[in-house]
Amino acid sequence: MDLIIRRATLPRSAVPQHKQPVDIGIEAARIVAVEPNLAAHAREEIDAAGSLVTPPFVDPHFHMDATLSYGLPRVNASGTLLEGIALWGELKPHLTQEALIERALQYCDWAVARGLLAIRSHVDVCDPRLLAVEALLEVKRRVAPYLDLQLVAFPQDGVLRSAGAFENLKRSIAMGVDVVGGIPHFERTMADGAQSVRLLCEFAAEQGLRVDMHCDESDDPLSRHIETLAAETHRLGLHGRVAGSHLTSMHSMDNYYVSKLLPLVREAGVAAIANPLINITLQGRSDTYPKRRGMTRVPEMMAAGIDVAFGHDCVMDPWYSLGSGDMLEVAHMGLHVAQMTGVDAMHACFDAVTVNAARILGLEGYGIAPGCAANLVLLDARDPVEAIRLRAARLAVVSRGKVVSRAPAARASLSLEGRPAEVDFKLHRG
Ligand code: FE2
Repeated sequence: MDLIIRRATLPRSAVPQHKQPVDIGIEAARIVAVEPNLAAHAREEIDAAGSLVTPPFVDPHFHMDATLSYGLPRVNASGTLLEGIALWGELKPHLTQEALIERALQYCDWAVARGLLAIRSHVDVCDPRLLAVEALLEVKRRVAPYLDLQLVAFPQDGVLRSAGAFENLKRSIAMGVDVVGGIPHFERTMADGAQSVRLLCEFAAEQGLRVDMHCDESDDPLSRHIETLAAETHRLGLHGRVAGSHLTSMHSMDNYYVSKLLPLVREAGVAAIANPLINITLQGRSDTYPKRRGMTRVPEMMAAGIDVAFGHDCVMDPWYSLGSGDMLEVAHMGLHVAQMTGVDAMHACFDAVTVNAARILGLEGYGIAPGCAANLVLLDARDPVEAIRLRAARLAVVSRGKVVSRAPAARASLSLEGRPAEVDFKLHRG
């Protein structure tokens, strides 16, 4: 074999469940064995020593055309979504393909080091030059040997509101962009928003494509485009191929209406993507106190049987000044904002940045079982909850069967009389 990872603990969601720890055998970029005490040898062996080995992190919602542009041409002073969109509009005419590619590749380096090996990125198609589309298609080609990049044609300024946006979107799909995006709440009227959802879903159905719309990223409880998105998904038979991103208005909606909405979303097989780091900072900006958290209803949707994943959305761009490609930071924030503190709920937050996100992207060969792609992350944690708590170091990242990144464990030495020489921040009993 090419590589064996020995004595690995797997996350709960890994299928099939094993007596643990297990050894994972890899050959020709595929997992070929998952069993205790694997009787085989490999050119390279890694001893996980009981630590967690997970399929890679998956970011189902990102903006790679804007990433790492923080401060260009200026910083978002109000911190609002709308100033972020205006700021992006100021930056767009100054974008060059070289700079876009360089920033995106740098972000992908960070992502790999964080064990983030699949990203769905929206790319703005409102610039008729389609500069960002060309740049991210080039980035997709360059990172393909180690990272799955899926692109969404995103009409940032509104497919109806912005002249030529639908034509640009269609051109970008013809160029190789994978998924149809939209932004109904940014159209000029509710009716235009609903019309944009219909138009884009019909186009996706015609083309046999997936849909992922920025939907209801608003504090307005009457922003109900998710209802149209679910109804259109059902009407056009797009079940399982559509995601609504953000859905923050659901936080502010009337409970009775939501009790009717969630079954519609579930029956249509529409997935939900919450972006906790971004929406806890962008939403509720016009509130005084009490101030709304603004994240969509994550535990309620999960309980209703809707697929829910967490996205990073932004890293150092017009909307968000922080971030480093760490999906454990995303899960950590999602857990807090949604108050998902029960044991099962914390595991569900880990799933939201791994298996659930992979399902929404339609990733093939994702998981830890014979036949799956050999993409794995060894974490300096014993289980997913500890991984979230510590935002654990990625001791080793394996992509396509090769170790592509290593990092040291987080340890601190102590010089205290009568106390241990080192701490690892893990709970050691007895
Ligand atoms: Fe977004």
